[in-house]
Amino acid sequence: MTEALSITASAIDPGLLQLPWSLPLAQWPSRAIVSLPKGLSRHLVRFASLSGRVVAVKETTEAMARREYEMLGNLHRLDVPCVERVAVIAGRTDDAGLPLPAALVTAHLRFSMPYRALFTQVLRPDTADRLVDALAVLLVRLHNVGFFWGDVSLSNTLFRRDAGAFAAYLVDAETGELHENGLTPGQRSHDLDVARTNIAGEIMDLAAGGRLERGVDAIEIADRLVASYRSLWTALTSQESFAADESWRITERVQKLNDLGFDIDEMSIRTTADGTTVLIQPKVVDAGHHQRRLLRLTGLDVEENQARRLLNDLDQYRARISRLGSDEEMAAHEWLTRVFEPVVKSIPYDLRAKLEPAEVFHQVLEHRWYMSQERGRSVPLAEVLSSYVHDVLRHRRDEATIMGPPTETTSLPLLSPSDDEDDGRDWRDLV
Ligand SMILES: Nc1ncnc2c1ncn2[C@@H]1O[C@H](COP(=O)(O)OP(=O)(O)O)[C@@H](O)[C@H]1O
Ligand SMILES: [Mg+2]
Repeated sequence: MTEALSITASAIDPGLLQLPWSLPLAQWPSRAIVSLPKGLSRHLVRFASLSGRVVAVKETTEAMARREYEMLGNLHRLDVPCVERVAVIAGRTDDAGLPLPAALVTAHLRFSMPYRALFTQVLRPDTADRLVDALAVLLVRLHNVGFFWGDVSLSNTLFRRDAGAFAAYLVDAETGELHENGLTPGQRSHDLDVARTNIAGEIMDLAAGGRLERGVDAIEIADRLVASYRSLWTALTSQESFAADESWRITERVQKLNDLGFDIDEMSIRTTADGTTVLIQPKVVDAGHHQRRLLRLTGLDVEENQARRLLNDLDQYRARISRLGSDEEMAAHEWLTRVFEPVVKSIPYDLRAKLEPAEVFHQVLEHRWYMSQERGRSVPLAEVLSSYVHDVLRHRRDEATIMGPPTETTSLPLLSPSDDEDDGRDWRDLV
C-alpha cells in the first residue's frame, strides 16, 4: 500500500476527502475550482469549493504548511484579523505513487478582495491612502500582540469594505513569528522597512502596468503607511504626564483611544515621589471598541467603521425616540427591528451577494444624505431605498463570491458604471 493521505484539521469536514488530492493543484479540473481574484504569490494558490463554501488551497512544503497552520491558529486566538485555517493535507501522492506537495487549506474570506481587484482601471490616490491606512491598523494590531510579520505587503493582505474605509486581514503568515514578550523597536522597524519597500514596489508595478493614476507617487504611498502606523502606535502606547490635579486627562486618553477604535484593558498610572505629577501609559489595548459595543447591543458582528456608523445611527434614533428613556438596550432592539432589519430585508434576493448587509446599510445612509442635500429636505427612507437599489446597488458587481470566467480568453461581461470608482476587478488576477 502506498503512503496514506494525512489530514490535520480542528473540525474534520468530510468534504475534504472529495477534493482531488492525487492531482497536482495546477491540474485540478475546473469543476473543482472556483474563479476568484487573488493576489500575487510565490506558491500556487487556487480556490476550490468545499461543502458549500470556498476555500483557498496553497501548495507548499509540509513543514511550511504546518507552521502557517499553527500560526493562523494562534493569530485567531489572539483575535487579530486573519484568514481562518481549515486544514493541512500531507502525504499526497499521484496515481503513479509519486509524492505531491503538501497543501494548506484556508477559508476564503467572504467579501474580501486583493488590492488589485479593488479598482477597475487605475488606482486613485484616495483609494491608495485608504488601503495603506487599513494595512497600518492591521500592522499595529499584529505588533501589539507580539507578531512579527516578516513579509508585510499589499499582496499578503486582503481588504474588506468598511463604511467608506477598508479593513485589512492578514492572508500570508508563512514568515511570521510570535514573540510572547512583545516586539523590540528593532523588530517593529524591520517590519516597517519591509512594508515600505514592498508597497513601493507593488505600487510601481501598478504604474508600470498603466494602472496608477498619473501623478500618484509610489514612495509617498509607502511613506504614508509608516506615518499612519507611527501615529497610531504612539497613540496606543505613549506615556503621558500631567499635573496631579488634571486627572480628567486619564478619561481624555481613554476617550481618544475609544475614538480610534481601541479599548484600554490595562493602564499604568503612577505618580512621581512628590506626588505632583501623574504618569499614565496604556499597557493592554484591544481593538474593536465599536464592534464590541454594537455586538453587545444588537448581536451584529461587523467591521469597526461599520460598527461606528451603525452606532451613530442607533444613537441618533435613540435621541429621537426618547420615549424609551435612557434604556440603551431597548432602544437598540427597537432600532434593529425597525430600522436596520427592514433596510436589509428590502434588498431584493438577487442583489444580496453584492455587499455585506452592514455595508449596504452604510451606503443607504450615505445615499439618504446625498438625496436630502440635493433636494434640500429630508427624504423618506422608502424612497431612498428604492433609489439606492435601482440606481446604485443594481449596478455593482457581486462581492460575496466574485465569479469570473474560467480563462482570460472568455469574453467578459461589461461592467456597469457605478457610484464607486473602486468597482471592478482585475481579470489578470483570476485563477
Ligand atoms: N483564505 C484566503 N481567502 C482569500 N484569498 C486568499 C486566501 N488564501 C490565499 N488567498 C489569495 O492567494 C494569494 C496568495 O496567497 P499567499 O498565502 O500570500 O501565498 P504565498 O505564500 O505564495 O505568497 C493571496 O494574495 C490572496 O489573494
Ligand atoms: Mg504571499
